[in-house]
Amino acid sequence: MRVASYVAAAASLTVPGVFAATQMLASVDVSQVLGFDAGPDSFYNAPNPPWVAGSSPGWYYGPSPENHPDMWCLHDYMCRLLDYYPNALHCPKPKPTPSPTTTTKTVATTTTTTTTDTVTVTVTPVPSDGYVQIFSNITAAVQADDFMTFGLTETVDDCKAMCDSVPGCTFVNTYHDVNGKGGSTELTCSLFQFCHTAADADNRGGQSQPDGSIDFIINSDGWCKEGNPVTSSAPAPTSTASPSPPTTTAAPTTTAKPTTTSKTSAAPTQTAVPYYSQCGGYGYTGSTKCLSPYKCTFINLFYSQCRP
Ligand SMILES: *[C@@H]1O[C@H](CO)[C@@H](O)[C@H](O)[C@H]1NC(C)=O
Repeated sequence: MRVASYVAAAASLTVPGVFAATQMLASVDVSQVLGFDAGPDSFYNAPNPPWVAGSSPGWYYGPSPENHPDMWCLHDYMCRLLDYYPNALHCPKPKPTPSPTTTTKTVATTTTTTTTDTVTVTVTPVPSDGYVQIFSNITAAVQADDFMTFGLTETVDDCKAMCDSVPGCTFVNTYHDVNGKGGSTELTCSLFQFCHTAADADNRGGQSQPDGSIDFIINSDGWCKEGNPVTSSAPAPTSTASPSPPTTTAAPTTTAKPTTTSKTSAAPTQTAVPYYSQCGGYGYTGSTKCLSPYKCTFINLFYSQCRP
């Protein structure tokens, strides 16, 4: 695998001193060391979104990297290496297991001889993974131009963990692309900047595969990080420079767009950000909505800007 030699090179760089090496590595373009662009500019190694014919997943994250010798697999040394690069995709960090809250109540019971009974009450917190399900088990996948990256995972939880490790990601769409993705039986894990409803799920597959089969989408679930507005107003990216997907002819989406008129949930109304002003980035808490027709465009991890 081509990555091995780069890892060896990076490992030798760390010999003089971890601090100096970290500084040096941080100043080096990720792509120069890894051999590919793992940064947001190239959609974390998935420059073509999954609805474009011939696109391939940018990475695999899960328990069986050995099944993916030709893919960029996020595990052990690769995760540690990526940690050196602020702009790279990072592996999910192990979540601290929520320890059950143990309340010890001391109840004094007054009998003839004063005894003290200790009652231990174990309160298990309601498990919330921080995501709300927006749609479930539909036969189409989201197409939207706030696409961030896509990869393969075994489980929805792994996909959510990937989203958690990509700054700005608020929405995951997981689905099975039957016949697609080289016949992989794993979930396609597609990450977005904004939360979408099923109205934006208009990729039903239909791409001719190398073996002559046509792919189709099943088991498509959409999950939004709690507290984010849900929108169905993102325009479908019909004007990509790549070979036109079969969906372009039957595009009733453009006419039927209920442009933000019917929000599905009581989302807080955001004020539109003026042209060429900040609309996103790590630590940014302001509005992510741009004055029409400008789009919130990813510049780097710390700065997104409203651009045409
Ligand atoms: C999902 O939908 C398919 C039909 O598309 C159905 O056969 C299957 O039972 C559904 N799965 C769940 C978990 O609801």
